[in-house]
Amino acid sequence: MTPHTRTAFITGASSGIGASFARRFARDGYNLILHGRREVLLKGLCEDLARTCGVKTEYLLGELSNPDDIRRLEERIRTIPDLSVLVNNAGSATINHFSEEEIDGQEAMIRVHTIAPIRCTHAALPGMMARHEGTIINVASTAGFMVSPGSAVYCAVKGFLISFSESLHLEVKTSGVRVQALCPGFTRSDFHERLGYRVGKEFFRGFFSPDFVVAESLRDVAKGKVVSIPGWRYKASVAIRRLLPGRVMYWLVEVYGARQRATKRKFHTPG
Ligand SMILES: NC(=O)c1ccc[n+]([C@@H]2O[C@H](COP(=O)([O-])OP(=O)(O)OC[C@H]3O[C@@H](n4cnc5c(N)ncnc54)[C@H](OP(=O)(O)O)[C@@H]3O)[C@@H](O)[C@H]2O)c1
Repeated sequence: MTPHTRTAFITGASSGIGASFARRFARDGYNLILHGRREVLLKGLCEDLARTCGVKTEYLLGELSNPDDIRRLEERIRTIPDLSVLVNNAGSATINHFSEEEIDGQEAMIRVHTIAPIRCTHAALPGMMARHEGTIINVASTAGFMVSPGSAVYCAVKGFLISFSESLHLEVKTSGVRVQALCPGFTRSDFHERLGYRVGKEFFRGFFSPDFVVAESLRDVAKGKVVSIPGWRYKASVAIRRLLPGRVMYWLVEVYGARQRATKRKFHTPG
């Protein structure tokens, strides 16, 4: 009899939260299929985890704003006979006001954060539902509950992922498939450096480690929580946000925005 195997498919696994999910699932005995664009990092991670955890690893490259690359991921997902976990994690942001950003870049961000996850999820579901087993984690953000100048599209796509995950949970819960919207707050990764911030000890003060975010996510999956918000501070701010009337919230966002602008002045190098 062949031993029971499980595979985790993770997008955006070359660094940060995705790489941390990869390390955690490898330690738990899952074979891995990892996606990203930086081949050197993905190859190194795959080799390291195969050697240290004794699991099978494979990586796929793909630009997730590109429909052909998304389709290649979907095709690979459909052929995994023991797909147990799908983590839709890949993503990035922009920091300028919507009117100042290139519209093509904003559209690309929408595809990466919405079209890619829904297509990958659609490809994963039939096998998971037939086997009555599977977990889909959509990495959203606390930004998905908020509004923020400079993040108009980012907040909107993360809100999309939260709403999509909650409705999908209701559709599939009796099939044995679990769905989670993971909503981290500020987390140490390559995310902010890509936005042009000079990161370091001072910049990252108060940020979560990706390992903490992943541990919280998987603890919440085990508890059956559909929306996972790591850390009490972020849980509290989302709870308060939900109670606030629009006008009060806009005022608070303006006040907080002044702090954000100060951080930007101190740490940001326009690129
Ligand atoms: N860091 C935070 O404070 C924070 C907070 C809340 C939510 N999040 C969310 O967490 C997720 C992971 O981000 P992270 O913080 O771990 O950042 P990260 O270290 O920059 O990792 C982002 C990953 O996504 C991949 N990716 C980005 N854009 C892509 C694209 N267009 N096509 C294909 N792959 C793409 C990257 O691949 P390559 O680098 O190989 O190209 C990388 O593997 C994102 O969805 C982000 O929105 C982050």
